[in-house]
Amino acid sequence: MQKPVANENEKEVKSVDLIVSKADTEGNITYVNPIFMKISGYKQGELYDMPHSMLRHPDMPKVIFKYLWENIQKGNDVSSYVKNLCKDGSFYWVLATVKMAKNPDGSFRNYMSTRRAISERAKEKISALYKRLLEIEQSSGVEASEQELEKFLQENGVSDVHSFNQLMLEINK
Ligand SMILES: Cc1cc2nc3c(=O)[nH]c(=O)nc-3n(C[C@H](O)[C@H](O)[C@H](O)COP(=O)(O)O)c2cc1C
Repeated sequence: MQKPVANENEKEVKSVDLIVSKADTEGNITYVNPIFMKISGYKQGELYDMPHSMLRHPDMPKVIFKYLWENIQKGNDVSSYVKNLCKDGSFYWVLATVKMAKNPDGSFRNYMSTRRAISERAKEKISALYKRLLEIEQSSGVEASEQELEKFLQENGVSDVHSFNQLMLEINK
């Protein structure tokens, strides 16, 4: 399936909406809830086995997904802001909490993301941060963008993934 071309139309995520999906070890979709389909514009049959990266918006810096994967693979939950691309090229902002679920025997079951609406304040703050990270990524590479993210996190008292998640929740207030 071809990746949509992004446009400037924003889709509203209501405060009651919980947009859920599950994935295999590679990030391929194994489950979505009805709100996921409604907002993203994809039908059930189109979504299964589709990589989550089909939702990746061109405004998203690579380093955010690098941080996400490094942590969820270790079994840490990560809460992160994501601007997602819909099938019709529009976008929506969410605060996504991604975690690994395990089987009773401790083996990998799936990854699950639960996404919810974000405040206008969070949108402004995170858009500005992501814009800066993306500009650095494009001019000087992902490592330089990672350094800029680390600087932002240090300035905000983040020392590990738990304080990272706390900061993200704090920004959404
Ligand atoms: C459970 C789960 C949910 C994900 N949800 C999204 C999402 O909503 N949007 C997105 O762009 N990437 C999401 N990802 C991350 C993608 O797998 C991928 O790393 C990202 O889109 C960047 O893709 P790329 O590295 O191929 O460019 C999710 C990953 C997992 C495991």
